Order: sequence, then C-alpha cells, then structure tokens
Amino acid sequence: MVDTLPFLPSSSKNVILPVSYSPLHDGTQPDRRRRPTKGLVAVVCGLCMVALMAAIIGSKIDRQQVLRHHHHDRDITNGTLSSSSSSSSSSKTTLRETPATTTEKPLSRGVSAGVSEKTNRLVGAGGGNSPAFPWNNSMLSWQRTAFHFQPEKNWMNGPLFYKGWYHFFYQYNPNGAVWGDIVWGHAVSRDLIHWLHLPLAMVADQWYDENGVWSGSATILPDDTIVMLYTGSTNESVQVQNLAYPVDPSDPLLIKWEKYSGNPVLVPPPGIHKKDFRDPTTAWLTSEGKWRIMVGSKINKTGISLVYDTLDFKSYELLDGVFHGVPGTGMWECVDFYPVSEVSNEGLDTAANGLGVRHVVKASLDDDRHDYYAIGTYDEKNGKWLPDNHKIDVGIGIRYDYGIFYASKSFYDQNKARRILWGWISESDSELADMKKGWASLQGIPRTVVLDKKTGTNLLQWPVEEVESLRLTSSEFKDVQVKPGSVVSLDVGTATQLDIVAEFEVDKKALEETAKANYTEFSCSTSSGAAQRGALGPFGLLVLADNILSEQTPVYFYIVKGSDGNLKTFFCTDQSRSSVANDVNKQIYGSFVPVLKDEKLSVRILVDHSLVESFAQGGRTCITSRVYPTRAIYGAARIFTFNNATEATVTTSLKIWQMNSAFIRPFHPDQKKQHSS
Ligand SMILES: *[C@@H]1O[C@H](CO)[C@@H](O)[C@H](O)[C@H]1NC(C)=O
Ligand SMILES: *[C@@H]1O[C@H](CO)[C@@H](O)[C@H](O)[C@H]1NC(C)=O
Ligand SMILES: *[C@@H]1O[C@H](CO)[C@@H](O)[C@H](O)[C@H]1NC(C)=O
Ligand SMILES: *[C@@H]1O[C@H](CO)[C@@H](O)[C@H](O)[C@H]1NC(C)=O
Ligand SMILES: *[C@@H]1O[C@H](CO)[C@@H](O)[C@H](O)[C@H]1NC(C)=O
Ligand SMILES: *[C@@H]1O[C@H](CO)[C@@H](O)[C@H](O)[C@H]1NC(C)=O
Repeated sequence: MVDTLPFLPSSSKNVILPVSYSPLHDGTQPDRRRRPTKGLVAVVCGLCMVALMAAIIGSKIDRQQVLRHHHHDRDITNGTLSSSSSSSSSSKTTLRETPATTTEKPLSRGVSAGVSEKTNRLVGAGGGNSPAFPWNNSMLSWQRTAFHFQPEKNWMNGPLFYKGWYHFFYQYNPNGAVWGDIVWGHAVSRDLIHWLHLPLAMVADQWYDENGVWSGSATILPDDTIVMLYTGSTNESVQVQNLAYPVDPSDPLLIKWEKYSGNPVLVPPPGIHKKDFRDPTTAWLTSEGKWRIMVGSKINKTGISLVYDTLDFKSYELLDGVFHGVPGTGMWECVDFYPVSEVSNEGLDTAANGLGVRHVVKASLDDDRHDYYAIGTYDEKNGKWLPDNHKIDVGIGIRYDYGIFYASKSFYDQNKARRILWGWISESDSELADMKKGWASLQGIPRTVVLDKKTGTNLLQWPVEEVESLRLTSSEFKDVQVKPGSVVSLDVGTATQLDIVAEFEVDKKALEETAKANYTEFSCSTSSGAAQRGALGPFGLLVLADNILSEQTPVYFYIVKGSDGNLKTFFCTDQSRSSVANDVNKQIYGSFVPVLKDEKLSVRILVDHSLVESFAQGGRTCITSRVYPTRAIYGAARIFTFNNATEATVTTSLKIWQMNSAFIRPFHPDQKKQHSS
C-alpha cells in the first residue's frame, strides 16, 4: 500500500532513457504502478516509534497528561479538534477513514504560550466554508517522507557531533500531532541520514520549565564536556534560560541529562517582557577567554539579540546595548551567529575570527515565520555585529529559504570541518489532516553552508554529501531541447523519491532579441506561477505530476529583461496546482537568484513524497515546499521538464537518481555494542 522504494534494476545505470515529447494534457503515458515494497514497514516503524516513545516515557507522562488537558481547556476545546487530539497516541496508530465534511478553522497554537504561531493558516487554500477534501488512508500515508528525519512533531535545537555520533535534540509533543506540551526528543546518527530514536532527553519536570522545555543549544567545551542551555517556560510562563549537562559524559549516546540545581541561570533582564526571551545560542570563546552567547528578544517592534558573557555558564554578564537589532522585525527566535571563511569552503568553529572571516547573523522572525540572515562584521570587543549592507539587514533582506523552512540552527561539525544548517519544515495541509496522519512536521536535509565566494553577498546551502549514499539507479538526459510551450516527459518510473540535478541553457538569440520588458516588478509570489508565460520563462521541471498533469508542482526559472536591458533571474516553486485538494497551501514561492555572466542555470531538487527541496545556482536561492498530491502519488507520480516561455527554446541536461529510504527507527541496546566496537 505504500510505495517508498522503487528498487530498480542496477543495469539502468548510465543508460540514456528514451525521452518522449508530449504535448500538454497527454494522457497516453503508461502508468507503471509499482508494487509496495518496504514502504509499509517504514511507515509502521514510524508509528511504532511513536508508540515506543510514549511507552518509554509512560511513567513520566502523568503530569504531562494533566498539562495537556489543561491546554485543551484553553486552546483546543472548541470545534471537533478536541476529540481527535485528545486520544493522543492511539490516534497515531490508526489513521481515520472518515472524511471530514467541513473545513476546520485552525485554532491558534503557541502564541498564548509565548512562542510563534504553530498553526498553519493555509494561505491561498480554498478555505472559507467549502467542504474539506475527502482524504483517504492511502493518500495520507503516501505523504510521509522516506529519507528525512521525522519524529512526530518537532522543531529545532542544536545538533552536535560527539564521540562519533551526531546528536539531534528536538522539540517534541509526545501527546499529539499539534504543538503543545513540548519536551526534548533525542536521536543519534552516524551520518546525519540514518537515525536511531533514543528516549526523551528532557521533560518538563521543574518549576522553571513546567510550561515547556523549549529550544536550546549545546556547546562542547575544550575538555570535551558538553553544556546545554535551553529555554524553559516557568510555572508562571516566564521565559528563562536553564543549564543542563549529560550525567555520564563518557556515554557517546548521551542518554541521561541532568538539570543544574541552580536553574534558572538567566531571567529576562529589565525592559524585556517575560515572554520575549528565548533560544540561547551555542557559546563561543572570546579572545579574553570568556564564553559568549546570544538570546533572542524584542523591544517594542525591534527584533534584537542580547549578548552575555560567562565563565562557568552559571553566572552571566549582560553586555551593554544589543548584539544587533532591526526595527520593525518583531521578536527574534532561534538567533544564530557563526563565521564563514572568505577563502575556504571548510566550516569554522564559532569562535573563529580575524582576516578572511565574515560573520553571519540569522533570526527566525516570529511575525512572519521565516529565517532571515545577513553577512557582516563581528566587533568582538564591543559585543556587536554590523551588516555589510543595511538594506539587506537581518529580517529585511535575504532568507535561507523562500518556501517553508523555519527555526533553523547551524552547528560546526568538527568531524568533517564543515558548518551544517538544519531547518524545521512544518506542514502546510490542514491540522485535521495532520491529526489523521498522526504526525506533523519534519527536518529538511541538513545543508552545508559556506560563503558564496563569487558573489560575496550570499551564502551557498547544499545538501550534505551523505545524502548521496541513498542514491540508487540513475537516468541521464542530455541536451534535451524544450521548445516554447512544451512539456517533455522524463521516463524514470515512479518519481516519489528522487535526487535531481539539472542544467538549463536558454537560447542566446532569444535572450538578445527579446524586447525589454516592463516587469521589473516581477515576483514569484504575486505571479500566476508556471501559467504566467513570458518571453524568457518559466521553464524548469514538473515534479510530483501525474500523466495528465491534473496535479503538478513546477520548480522553475523565470528570466525577465528589465528596461535597462539587464537580465534578472527568478527561481520559483508553484504549488497552485500541486493538489486537487482544496485544504492545502497553494502559495507560489520564490525569489531572485544571482546568476553570473557565463554561468548556466542549474538546480538540484530532492523529492521525498510531500517534501520538495530545491537549490538553485549551487544553493544561492533555496525553496522548500510541502505539497500534498492526491493523484500524483505512488506509481502515478511522474516527472517532466517544461518550457512555458513564449520565445526562448531551452536546452536541458539532467541526471535523476532514485533514492533509497533512510533507516530511522528506535534504538536497540544491541546497536550500541555494534556501533561502538
Ligand atoms: C472557544 O469557546 C469559548 C466558549 O464557547 C469562546 O469564548 C472562545 O472565544 C472560543 N475560542 C475560539 C478560538 O473559538
Ligand atoms: C483513495 O482514493 C483514491 C482516489 O479516489 C482511490 O484510488 C484509492 O483506492 C482510495 N484508497 C483507499 C484506501 O480508499
Ligand atoms: C512557581 O514556582 C516557584 C518556585 O517553586 C514558586 O515560588 C512560585 O510560587 C510558583 N508560582 C506559582 C504560580 O505556582
Ligand atoms: C516602546 O514603545 C513605548 C510606547 O510607544 C514607548 O513609550 C517606549 O519608549 C518604547 N521603548 C523603546 C525602548 O523604544
Ligand atoms: C510600465 O509600467 C508602468 C508602471 O507600472 C506603467 O505606467 C506603464 O504603462 C508600463 N508600460 C508598458 C509599455 O506597459
Ligand atoms: C503554460 O501556460 C499556460 C497558459 O497560461 C497554462 O495553461 C499551462 O498550464 C502552463 N504550463 C505549465 C506547465 O504550467
């Protein structure tokens, strides 16, 4: 019933598959529906995992249950949501058959508790009072990803590499597929791809984190010990910073955590509202030998990061002023700060400074739920940071990702001398569907992040190389000419788990001869997506499309020639026709992408069921999209290349790999022996 893994014959390696040119709405492609293989196992494991985790924490859960009901009284009682969500773990193991008959108005979650809105508002969906789409089991099961880290519900804390294992601590609701009752889940991996779920690392069992063990960051000290700082929401909903450390530092799995008896170590300073003080960063050393951290906050509408110095992580000195702040950007969540090298593609330890080093500040804006970064200069002495360009400052300039991507955090991976950025991807279907699926949200593929040496003004984000270990067979298509207004089927079989690398060359004559256009105002999000035909775009790929294109998700470039004669390239993902369901987000995402002279246009796309991650021009502009097809699923999912420009012919070369599923399952004690020997 679940098709996650098309095991193709290995003989298809390097074979150039036939390319068929088909007009729009050509329904003649054979439907090579694939047999279910191990997908079912994967899904069942995922659900077992949840049950297992619930079992592990069973003894600790009682007070949480009480809290949860309390939350329901306050947040969830209205509407039909309460009955679904209150059945907690049992609702996860059985997907419900009954189609909903009305569209639920999503209730707000998170805001009253003092964090950002966690409910997806379905911007652009049918909405209103139209009937909800009749989702059935097989449609919902298909949405679960196969090679992305996915607990039941999570968002980001600081990952780290310790004694041979990558550790990931994440925000987790053990009681349901909606935000609430947040504790710390914990998983470990050797390669950032295959994961073992461990018992919960920390639960809300103290007055200073009674309302939630929220985001935090780990710091590895020079003597190889670890300290963890995290935000707790107290019994009085005050946001405070707490200290925790592993009980047994010699345990590579870091299973047991102890909270410092003197918690909290930081409370909101004067002038900072009690609900505006959260998400401490990883600490870095100053040249004076002190540890420095940042905590996100705001004053009125100005988003800020406060900066503290400490010697022992127990007592702190608040530095004067703010590390950085930008008026109008609102609360800064999950602030991040790190160096990038101007000369090397190696990552740098957070403390690195000096010649050839620039510094990135990132904030997750509570107000619009996007991650913004800016590149600038760190003034260590005064504890400040200045952007290179005030016009593209934090929160008003560049985003890591122009789709759905939030609360990311970076860490320095000393194992491979690289900086890794990891973001949380929420759902963009309805909350009711999430509860029927029994899970909500996941992690994107971890990305390496480096300074773009060619432009000097942006970062490059790229899937970690380990994801390539999942590549199975590949199909290559060379110099496929795609004429204006055409769609070309790329026969790779089932197209639900793919790694795609594609290059596009636009006919030079068309570029030169195209009249200067008046749409300097072009923007992906206000355009009509891939259906908006211009002289030089859109062209790109249609992923998760069925044969008759009744569902399709175009990922594409759109070039415009400004009145000054210069070309400007945009990179977009159009979700407007990704699903016939009405109750999913249908926004068109995207942004400008820098393209230098003599560069070809290039894109890498990872497709993993309902998750599509796209990286243009080596990762200058990235778009993560959640799409929920109902027809282009299982064996019916196809991939096409298209060109909807009116004047330019586009020549495309692609390599497309089928992707294996990752092993993401509960940890078994035997595995420790196996892996540590
Ligand atoms: C929930 O119901 C209560 C009582 O009926 C009402 O006061 C409150 O406004 C409702 N909340 C929402 C979010 O609809
Ligand atoms: C779900 O609906 C689709 C389309 O109507 C249908 O093909 C499929 O068999 C249904 N699956 C189940 C489990 O009902
Ligand atoms: C919260 O906990 C603190 C420390 O135990 C206690 O002093 C305070 O009275 C508690 N507040 C409430 C509202 O229970
Ligand atoms: C915040 O806004 C209030 C009311 O407008 C104003 O009185 C106050 O000075 C502002 N605070 C700062 C730090 O700007
Ligand atoms: C170009 O755009 C401007 C401003 O939007 C508009 O006033 C003008 O009429 C447009 N010119 C053409 C040729 O469409
Ligand atoms: C190309 O544009 C036409 C006209 O707007 C539209 O009907 C068609 O769906 C577009 N093609 C794709 C692949 O989006």
